Amino acid sequence: MHSLTVELGERSYPIFIGNNILSDINLSEYIVGRQVLIVSNETIAPLYMAKLDMLLTDFCVDHIILPDGEQYKNLEQVNTIFDQLLTCKHNRTTTLIALGGGVVGDMTGFAAACYQRGVNFIQIPTTILAQVDSSVGGKTGVNHPLGKNMIGAFYQPNLVIADIEYFQSLPQRQVAAGIAEIIKYGFIYDADFFVWLEQNISALMAKDAQALSYAVYRSCQIKAEVVAKDEKEMGIRAWLNFGHTFGHAIETHQGYGSWLHGEAVATGMMMAVDLSCRLGWIEPALLQRAKDLLEAAQLPICAPEDMTVDDFLTLMSVDKKVLDGSIRLVLLKELGQATVTADFDRALLHETLSLGKQLAQL
Ligand code: NAD
Ligand code: GLY
Repeated sequence: MHSLTVELGERSYPIFIGNNILSDINLSEYIVGRQVLIVSNETIAPLYMAKLDMLLTDFCVDHIILPDGEQYKNLEQVNTIFDQLLTCKHNRTTTLIALGGGVVGDMTGFAAACYQRGVNFIQIPTTILAQVDSSVGGKTGVNHPLGKNMIGAFYQPNLVIADIEYFQSLPQRQVAAGIAEIIKYGFIYDADFFVWLEQNISALMAKDAQALSYAVYRSCQIKAEVVAKDEKEMGIRAWLNFGHTFGHAIETHQGYGSWLHGEAVATGMMMAVDLSCRLGWIEPALLQRAKDLLEAAQLPICAPEDMTVDDFLTLMSVDKKVLDGSIRLVLLKELGQATVTADFDRALLHETLSLGKQLAQL
């Protein structure tokens, strides 16, 4: 088992990473009172809830099983978590445990941030995407019909357990979607990791345990470093949104759950690389490498055919990075180094947005 720390002073917390590690962790060290609410969903609970329950026999444990899907990541579902907490009379010392992917984790964290103005919570992420990204760093929240992740709070967990054992039951489409966020770290932060990903993409797609453990570890290490530098996204943390301004627009336009988050991010990263290339900041060869790696991960690289430039611009204008009415984008200065900027030629952005299928024909 490996461990990392997200260094946030008094709110620092560990991330444990490994294969089949859940029962090796002393959960009681991270649970403050006697009450626990496990939040999961109808797909994950039948697979993994019983094992977690067995490790919590010293506590008074309640459960809530949410419906499965991005379309249920909303305030209504968070309210059902509050209903359960109040019905079961949970007090301020309760601990919420998120057992699931990013949807369960984001909603549980938001409920923990709000319930009685903030209670303890633990992340047990079960998807690749949730282990390498959403469970670490304290961004919690829900979608609004007019914008992705628009309602939420920064609220850190006090423990993250990234057990790659969970990936055994993960469908291949979800594996690919998680790998999109791993590739993101190579683009924005670590050129050597990008090369490692180019060399190991087949092993990752085949769920090779050693390759996945390293990819989860290196991704969490980068994420922890960035969050420690800039918890509230005043600067470098925005790099983690590489591809997301385009991607969130796709998710919102297509209807939450139609494109997976990682799929939309993959296409968004391709568009961000394309624009960086049009601006002359990176070599065209990197555009080809981006396409090859994303395609090897069976990820989409072209925007939906029914999305116009205006659709993109309208949806991108409600992005959280918008400042004084200007769209700001995360683009690449070089492989392994990103920048957040509103200083780009709008005509070139229009060219990228109108590319559609052409990106596939590089
Ligand atoms: P998800 O939570 O919807 O999980 C994907 C699917 O896999 C679901 O159907 C789920 O039930 C199923 N599943 C989960 N674990 C499984 C397992 N071990 N075996 C079988 N099936 C399993 O999606 P996700 O990709 O984990 O997360 C996406 C969400 O995360 C989006 O809402 C996105 O906005 C959010 N996100 C948040 C952050 C953050 O910093 N908070 C970062 C990135 C993404
Ligand atoms: N996933 C982006 C962030 O955590 O900042």
